[in-house]
Amino acid sequence: MTDKVNMTMTNNWHKLWERKTLATEKPDLATLISMVGWKTKDGDLSEQEWLEFVRFVAEKLNISSGDIIFEIGCGPGGFLLPFYEKGHAITGLDYSESLIEICRQIMPSGDFHYGEANLLPLPDQSFDIIFSNSVCHYFPDHDYSERVLSEISRCLKSGGRGAILDANDASKRNAFLEHRYERFGGKVEYDEQNQDLPQLFYDKDWFVNTGAKYGLIGYTEDQSIEWYRNTPFRFNYFFSKQ
Ligand SMILES: C[S@@+](CC[C@H](N)C(=O)[O-])C[C@H]1O[C@@H](n2cnc3c(N)ncnc32)[C@H](O)[C@@H]1O
Repeated sequence: MTDKVNMTMTNNWHKLWERKTLATEKPDLATLISMVGWKTKDGDLSEQEWLEFVRFVAEKLNISSGDIIFEIGCGPGGFLLPFYEKGHAITGLDYSESLIEICRQIMPSGDFHYGEANLLPLPDQSFDIIFSNSVCHYFPDHDYSERVLSEISRCLKSGGRGAILDANDASKRNAFLEHRYERFGGKVEYDEQNQDLPQLFYDKDWFVNTGAKYGLIGYTEDQSIEWYRNTPFRFNYFFSKQ
């Protein structure tokens, strides 16, 4: 199967993620998470804070040893690395070739694919767990996101579990924008620096109802990471496949 990325993506996010590279060959976990923008309210976050979040997700999904795990939009691998180190078989996919190269370096026995979330180059029913952390707000539209849910369902084993984490909550869109304007020093400055970098927002019901169309039975919860600056505006969708 060939990895491929549809270069007709309508915004600049793909270019931005493709530009991410690292000077060092042996990055530590803190470097991996900071290079894809994970920040606390006050600045950089610690490895310990990050590992607590990974543990929270592992508990929610009831991940046990032997579970085969796949992450969509894995970036340089900061979310997968703790599972890899525990001995899980892991697969990652991202549409940034430079970030996938970093994953291949730091997790040599992992299976990594350069490709898009809406067309997974992977066999049917091959994973116990599929998650995607802080990716779905970069998708171009809801049709694309629906295609991702249908692909997740195809690749999950029956009884498999998963999560779309850190989705933008449509009911908090205005509050999110106000927060961003403040961070960037005003609306004009924000608009200037974020041209062609739109973020997609979701109604919580959209995930529950659309997932159900593909046999994913799920629920949503507000984002609960205490340290994370976007927590007030985000939610998580957890599901299992019938
Ligand atoms: C904020 S980073 C999160 C990385 C990782 N999931 C983590 O938690 O550290 C978002 C990642 O999503 C990837 N991405 C965004 N849209 C994508 C798409 N349509 N298909 C595949 N990857 C995508 C980006 O290249 C980037 O690596």
